[in-house]
Amino acid sequence: MKLSVFSSKPYDRKYFEAANAARKASEIDIVYHEFSLGKDTVFLAKGSDAVCVFVNDALGPAIVEALARDGVKAILLRCAGFNGVDLEAAEKHGLLVANVPSYSPEAVAEFAVALIQTLNRHTHRAYNRVREGNFALDGLLGRTLHGKTVGIIGTGKIGLATARIMKGFGCRVIAYDPFPSPAFSELGDYQTLEELLPASDIISLHCPLMASTRYIVNEQTISKMKPGVMLVNTSRGGLIDTKAVVRALKSRHLGSLALDVYEGESSLFYDDHSGEIIDDDVLMRLTTFHNVIVCGHQAFFTEEALKEIADCTLRNMEEYAATGMCKNSLTRDAKIKRRDSLPVRNV
Ligand code: NAI
Repeated sequence: MKLSVFSSKPYDRKYFEAANAARKASEIDIVYHEFSLGKDTVFLAKGSDAVCVFVNDALGPAIVEALARDGVKAILLRCAGFNGVDLEAAEKHGLLVANVPSYSPEAVAEFAVALIQTLNRHTHRAYNRVREGNFALDGLLGRTLHGKTVGIIGTGKIGLATARIMKGFGCRVIAYDPFPSPAFSELGDYQTLEELLPASDIISLHCPLMASTRYIVNEQTISKMKPGVMLVNTSRGGLIDTKAVVRALKSRHLGSLALDVYEGESSLFYDDHSGEIIDDDVLMRLTTFHNVIVCGHQAFFTEEALKEIADCTLRNMEEYAATGMCKNSLTRDAKIKRRDSLPVRNV
């Protein structure tokens, strides 16, 4: 079996090589490409049984069609979010799309909480000050989190893990999710979005990016939030209308903002642009606010998560090759259409 891994970094390679070596009998022939999968690079997938892509690889209908034409049978996402792949096109062409649904929800939740703590107690500013010999406390005043209300939007695996940690801090946790989970009901109360927005001191986004959630944070929803609210997004950039958020920061309505994801991240994140002029004025404006933290989509980035991502991706490939099915499939009928065309192996 041959797998072409796109947008790969040395750390991906390290964990994929280790996961593959551990397989012995069913070792997979893996080819690593540093660049993303797109119209200029899709030809490199030819001859592969599957491609493996990451969060910012955009697999629209034309790319999916090209993959199918070149004999690729599966698109393996080494992430949970699947907004980058046109699932309908994949189904149409009989390609399996599978993800890694849960590699370490705690890793992302812990990072969201790290951002909350940093914004609240200004440790990012304190770090710089002390290095300059400035030990003044002005501007570093925080608020005790105990007793504050945290609004979680999306109570899946990560939202739930975040709620548990914040509950441990003594916060009141409330949530909005169109599909409520009994596990969250043990921690706090579900509310409508309209109720949650004005009631929360901190709002943390943990829902997927879909047509229905795109710009869930916009001019109108921001206006309903409590003045001085802290907004944290470790989910997907497209959940936030960033220009509206910049306006809310300028008007002082939004108290602080932490982004691990950004709607224009695909052309910037995961690469070093420090020697270039960055054209994105919205992102650059964000970096000028003292009460804004922007990180480059790193919430998942722990040793444990990378190990599970590599293991699970190879398991997905093996399972599909052996049975024509995959429990992490995001496409409904691909497994049926392609079942007979895959090399069957014992796993
Ligand atoms: P999940 O699928 O377990 O949970 C998502 C939850 O969002 C579900 O409970 C669902 O009912 C809810 N939801 C759906 N539509 C909603 C809406 N309109 N409003 C509110 N909630 C809604 O997903 P999980 O694992 O918790 O991941 C959440 C998101 O985190 C992923 O979609 C991904 O985009 C992002 N992510 C970010 C990472 C990072 O490194 N920054 C790493 C991993 C995931």
